[in-house]
Amino acid sequence: MTNTAETQYPILDVLASRRSPRAYDGDATLTMDDLGPAFEAARWAPSANNLQPWSFIVGYRGDDVHAKISETLSGFNADWAPAAGALVVGITNTLTASGRQNAYARYDLGQAVAHFSVQAQANGLSVHQMGGFDIDALTVALGVNEPQEVVVVFSVGKAGDVAALPEPLKEREEAPRERKPLTEVVR
Ligand SMILES: Cc1cc2nc3c(=O)[nH]c(=O)nc-3n(C[C@H](O)[C@H](O)[C@H](O)COP(=O)(O)O)c2cc1C
Repeated sequence: MTNTAETQYPILDVLASRRSPRAYDGDATLTMDDLGPAFEAARWAPSANNLQPWSFIVGYRGDDVHAKISETLSGFNADWAPAAGALVVGITNTLTASGRQNAYARYDLGQAVAHFSVQAQANGLSVHQMGGFDIDALTVALGVNEPQEVVVVFSVGKAGDVAALPEPLKEREEAPRERKPLTEVVR
């Protein structure tokens, strides 16, 4: 099963095939050279006033950062995400250069992560964004201070064997992918 998006209009293959997997190859290791193209895509994302408020902390499986991120994952995220070769924390700078609140800080980080995920997909890596983690614990563990704010964690890795997942996760992986119809979201 490919679980490719069913679309009313044709879209790029890389967008149709992108999905958020929970089965990673727990033996495949990653380096910065593997993630470099995706981080370049994130770096070249647009942002309000070109402030580029995003930054990232990367943990590679086996290192201290990966372990710290893994320890803060909540619920079933803790069961599947640590197998990913990399766990990345998405951080945003909440202030502008003049010290005002940047209303687009999170929006721009999200857009950078979207660019990351599409480039990663094109390079044979799967990305799964997560809000299910202890944000306070991770902020302290990584020493992130205001005006920087931890927003999201995402896993990056090579696809693994869905059949090897425990049943509730396997079922989720094999469920049909769903979206609201275009008529509901565009008017
Ligand atoms: C900000 C954000 C937070 C998310 N949090 C979680 C999470 O904690 N656990 C999880 O399994 N999936 C999480 N997801 C993944 C979504 O559930 C997923 O993108 C959505 O169901 C659509 O599936 P697809 O990405 O495979 O198309 C999150 C996605 C985003 C963008």
